[in-house]
Amino acid sequence: MRRLTILILLAAASPAPVAAAPPFDPAEALPGGAATAAVDDASAAFARPVGNLPEAERARFLLGARYFYTRWVAGPAPAPALTGVGPLYNALSCEQCHRNDGRGRPPALGVDETEVTGAIARFAALSAPYGAQLQDFAIGGQAAEGRLIRSPAPVSGGSGGGFGAVNAPVWRIGAPGYGPVPAAISVVIAPQVNGVGLIDAIPAAAIRAAADPDDRDGDGISGVAVAGGAGRFGWRAAQASVEGQAARALALDMGLSTARYPNHWGDCAEAQQACRMRARAGAAAAVEIDGTILDAIVQYTANLGPPARPDAARPDVLAGRAAFHGAGCAQCHTPSHVTGPNAYPWLSGQTIWPYSDFLLHDMGEGLGDAGGQEWRTPALWGLGRHGAVNGHAQYLHDGRAETLSEAVLWHGGEAARARDAFRALSPVDRDALLAFLSSL
Ligand code: HEC
Ligand code: HEC
Repeated sequence: MRRLTILILLAAASPAPVAAAPPFDPAEALPGGAATAAVDDASAAFARPVGNLPEAERARFLLGARYFYTRWVAGPAPAPALTGVGPLYNALSCEQCHRNDGRGRPPALGVDETEVTGAIARFAALSAPYGAQLQDFAIGGQAAEGRLIRSPAPVSGGSGGGFGAVNAPVWRIGAPGYGPVPAAISVVIAPQVNGVGLIDAIPAAAIRAAADPDDRDGDGISGVAVAGGAGRFGWRAAQASVEGQAARALALDMGLSTARYPNHWGDCAEAQQACRMRARAGAAAAVEIDGTILDAIVQYTANLGPPARPDAARPDVLAGRAAFHGAGCAQCHTPSHVTGPNAYPWLSGQTIWPYSDFLLHDMGEGLGDAGGQEWRTPALWGLGRHGAVNGHAQYLHDGRAETLSEAVLWHGGEAARARDAFRALSPVDRDALLAFLSSL
């Protein structure tokens, strides 16, 4: 009897692996297939073009880089300044949020930051008088909407158990410029943008095929496809294409109009009439970003390659790969996909290794916010390079996790089993799993 109890306890302490790892394929060292980027400089690891970018596309890529990095001005200003930003905005360039084509960060704890961080507060519903999101900057003479502040948190959340306490961030909006701010907000940081052209090229049907909204296979994991598998960008897969994401960023984050978002006033709401009038008065007849500029921005962003993995076959990395599969991480972080037809033909027909199913999963209460508990599985490629690229390494949708372990321990809901399996790993296996993540 006693023996039986001990056996049961042992079985509970070291759960059986969910899945055995498939044999290592040397092609895994090239996560973008022929489109993998060579890395010559750690801080520019996300800023290099796909390895197979045709020579004839280089000029457009470099033009797009200029628009991605240059800070726009309110205008009017002499050429070659890029004018028309605002009246309300979050940043003056894509790169202020996507630093070095990498990710943004949340504001530092308890600090009323006056710089661009790359975090955005969204309102749960389109909200009068603030519109879709909080703009923390405005052009001269116009009031900004307020500032996003991360308070030191009294609530202990996550699953620190044994790994140190992890606090859920508590958000507040300081210095509101247009009256009371809606309480229901959702905060997200800018993710890295490299590899997005390859993700764009995954057929919607392939993403949809892996969805299991009613958990028919009974594995406790019910992925939901957004817009029939078309939705894949943003932390909730709300956007279907790089172009859609770029045009939306131009409109809401920078106050720049395109054919897709022709209003010059960006996110100035109906109630912010003075803001709308400022925008109209300052505007030229046409949209601020014409088709050629948008096209260059999109071509540039879509053709930033995922970096090569020089350490893919290192023994500890391979042990970590086995532990990753064994813990069930690959049930959502699907290792590979094959790209289909795309606007950039050289990006199609590639076997790519982003480690995501691009589906939404209920990640538990700890990660939930005004928008719910469902998040899109993020791609894990480049994971070990954020520190060198951004000068910080902060993970999860709001950047709350400062280490990879912390990011995994925040997993709950459908990922609770995988998190528990991670926790139950021996220290050696856990370190190997973390080495594998960093090698991606
Ligand atoms: C104010 C900060 C900010 C600026 C400026 C900004 N972005 Fe973003 N970007 C974000 C955030 C935040 C997200 C995540 C959005 C979400 O979860 O819905 C994002 C997501 C993206 C994504 C999707 C990445 C993925 O894997 O899901 C792309 C592509 C992108 N941005 C491109 C651009 C381009 C191009 C520009 C300039 C035209 C730009 N961004 C400007 C903050 C910004
Ligand atoms: C049920 C699906 C699911 C499973 C299983 C799962 N994940 Fe995740 N993972 C997600 C989602 C969704 C997020 C994004 C959550 C957020 O940002 O709030 C995420 C985020 C992450 C991140 C942070 C990525 C970033 O860009 O900030 C890491 C690292 C990670 N997962 C590793 C793992 C590991 C290791 C395992 C196995 C122990 C695992 N995941 C199992 C769905 C899953």
